[in-house]
Amino acid sequence: MDGRGLVRSMRTMATLQGVRATRSALQRRRLDARWLPARGAERARVPGEVVGAEPMPGGGIVRFARSELRIRVVKGGAVFRSWDGAEPEPSYALAGEVPEPDPRAQLEPDKDGGWRVVSERVTVEVSRLGAVDIRTPGGVVLRRDLPPRWWEPVEGGPGRWLQRTEVAADARFFGLGGRACGPRLRDGTYRLWNTDPRGSFGPADDPLYITMPVQLVVADAGTHLSFHDNSWDGRVTLREGEEGAGSGHDRPGTSEVRMDGGPLRCWVIVGSPARVLARWTRLTGAPAVPPSWALGPQHARWGFGGEREVRRIAAGYRARELPLAAVHLDIDHFEGHRVFTVDRERFPDLPGLAEELRGAGVRLVSIVDPAVKAEPGDAVYDSGAAGGAFVRDGRGREVRGVVWPGECVYPDFTDPAVREWWGGLYGERLAQGFAGVWHDMNEPVSFAPFGDRSLPRSARHDLEGRGGDHREAHNVYALAMAHAGYEGLRRLRPRERPFLFSRSGWAGMQRYGGTWSGDVSTGWAGLRASLSLVLGLGLCGVPYSGPDVGGFDGSPSPELYLRWFQLGAYLPLFRTHAAIHAGRREPWEFGPAVLEHARAALAERERLRPYFVTLARLAELTGAPYARPVWWGSPKDRALRECEDAFLLGDALLVAPVLEPGAERRSVRLPKGRWYDTVTERAYDGPARVVMDAPLSRVPVLARAGAVIPVRGADGELELEVWAPATGRRGGGLVVPDAGDGWEPAEVERYATRLVEGVVKVKRVRLDGSGPPGRRVRVRGLGPAEL
Ligand code: NOJ
Repeated sequence: MDGRGLVRSMRTMATLQGVRATRSALQRRRLDARWLPARGAERARVPGEVVGAEPMPGGGIVRFARSELRIRVVKGGAVFRSWDGAEPEPSYALAGEVPEPDPRAQLEPDKDGGWRVVSERVTVEVSRLGAVDIRTPGGVVLRRDLPPRWWEPVEGGPGRWLQRTEVAADARFFGLGGRACGPRLRDGTYRLWNTDPRGSFGPADDPLYITMPVQLVVADAGTHLSFHDNSWDGRVTLREGEEGAGSGHDRPGTSEVRMDGGPLRCWVIVGSPARVLARWTRLTGAPAVPPSWALGPQHARWGFGGEREVRRIAAGYRARELPLAAVHLDIDHFEGHRVFTVDRERFPDLPGLAEELRGAGVRLVSIVDPAVKAEPGDAVYDSGAAGGAFVRDGRGREVRGVVWPGECVYPDFTDPAVREWWGGLYGERLAQGFAGVWHDMNEPVSFAPFGDRSLPRSARHDLEGRGGDHREAHNVYALAMAHAGYEGLRRLRPRERPFLFSRSGWAGMQRYGGTWSGDVSTGWAGLRASLSLVLGLGLCGVPYSGPDVGGFDGSPSPELYLRWFQLGAYLPLFRTHAAIHAGRREPWEFGPAVLEHARAALAERERLRPYFVTLARLAELTGAPYARPVWWGSPKDRALRECEDAFLLGDALLVAPVLEPGAERRSVRLPKGRWYDTVTERAYDGPARVVMDAPLSRVPVLARAGAVIPVRGADGELELEVWAPATGRRGGGLVVPDAGDGWEPAEVERYATRLVEGVVKVKRVRLDGSGPPGRRVRVRGLGPAEL
């Protein structure tokens, strides 16, 4: 076909897709009108007056005239509370067994006819009319949930509800999944409905692919996480408070959660940020540890075009001696965009290519979309249809949507049998030589010129046998797909940890893998949004993520590309990627200066690989994200709570990326303690705001005094980079050596550092007493080491 013919046929295809998408959007509207009749008259309800209470292990039930409130403090200190009899299960968020009630937490009568549950870490006070206070053991209120309100259809059906909450006037909100406008969530309404934003997005676009009813609230009085375990469509309206607002009184911050249906049940976890994340990931599952290679630099592209181009790119990295851990193949390597197929004309020998790349230390990662071309004869369609795997409408017919391959059907991942079937399909990917998978379009997307670009809300789902519709299943669709993929890979290749990351997801998705930014727009605003997403998701328990370095669309200027690259080098998923019509993203495409600076960023990433391995393991063990807001260790420092342009990488490093054009210096806000510029070794004492050099060659990175950072030495061996503690102070750090890509348990090494008469002492702390570090040590920030 000549050039013009190609353009013509692409236009026809585009028009055809347009016609299909319009048809499917109209059908979606018809189905919803038929199966989800408009809400008729509604009856409003509030709990009313308290009428009695019944103690139970961990708390009890407080009965009101028109509802009842369950309170249960579980072992470890998390508080569950629910209205109308809702239990913690069934839940897509929780991992494994619900923790046991804390037997020491007792329900007892309180003043004014209320009730309270006192436990070691938190006190819950219930007022006569159903307001619930969460207090620190010292009695300070962290949040006050006002009595909820319900609106229930007179004719029956799911009721809507509203929960209004007050928090301290100084409190700041974070979380709610991946938000581009954060990490601090300012006043506004945030929808809870996983959404593909149509094209690329910037900070003003909300919601995005991952929404979660998870809020992290940070105030002087303490930090807490609240999770409304409800996957329905909802809206959260946040308003920060104001101290001394009217006539000297504080105006509290408020959060209003409105859900279209589903239970009103909520978990609250109180404590330091570290403690909160530890409890949260104990409740919803430890973050999966990516294989070590997935902590290296990766390159993707929509539109490689064929094997030759993939080889050319890999060779380009090799020729320039740039490290490359993986290449990701997008939908253009499929035949006709169909999942679990290969275009054999363009990729005649994928297993051969995979092996060849593997020999050069480069893995192949495959995109996997959930939608299956609705075409009898398509192997995946046939096997799914035979097993009744696809989502159906109210009449029992397969729901059709439109995605890249054309008309498609959607596996119902909320059905355990479908998950098992789907997981088995990954065998084909492994046989093609892929080492990991990249889940996309799983909000799930169905192209539509108007309305919601997803399935009809009336579409039926199995929901683990309970039965329900897409209003409840939508937000957990990608989570359940990740579950299927993860288990499939584990079954098929039991000796290796799966590598999976997913565009969409929900609370608990970290059990199966990570995520990435999705189609972040190429521009300085997109660069800023990238950091917001990673930090916000980390606070929701999803530590492994990163942006499309360079942005998804268009062509970044060399400067923007470089600054994005320098940020990406310090984020867990470090991957360049771009859309089919976007400009190049290889480091050598932006001129020799950018190449040299990108090389330096890559070299530093490689040097820090053992630190990333450690952070991945610590995320699994403790829930602490690799990339943390700068207030992580000092949540009471109000100035740090406002700081959104820097982050802590683990305990040891503070990274201050350049997020604006033309900057050669930038100001950096430091938490308390001593910090060293990692290049000049100049020491700064925090809390402070300092101005640091940020030439194009690097972004400011500071190391905490006393820190122990595992790095790759010049000979490739792990060595400890120790930053001198401040005089009279102690320091230390944890190191988890790489135990390979299997299931070997992590062995945590603990080191302590001290400065004694100008000399840095490093010891390995063992249960049976301290001893020499047993590893090569390089002291920085001060004189030679004495071991
Ligand atoms: C949307 C994804 O966000 C993007 O990364 C990918 O390149 C395209 N889909 C094509 O598969």
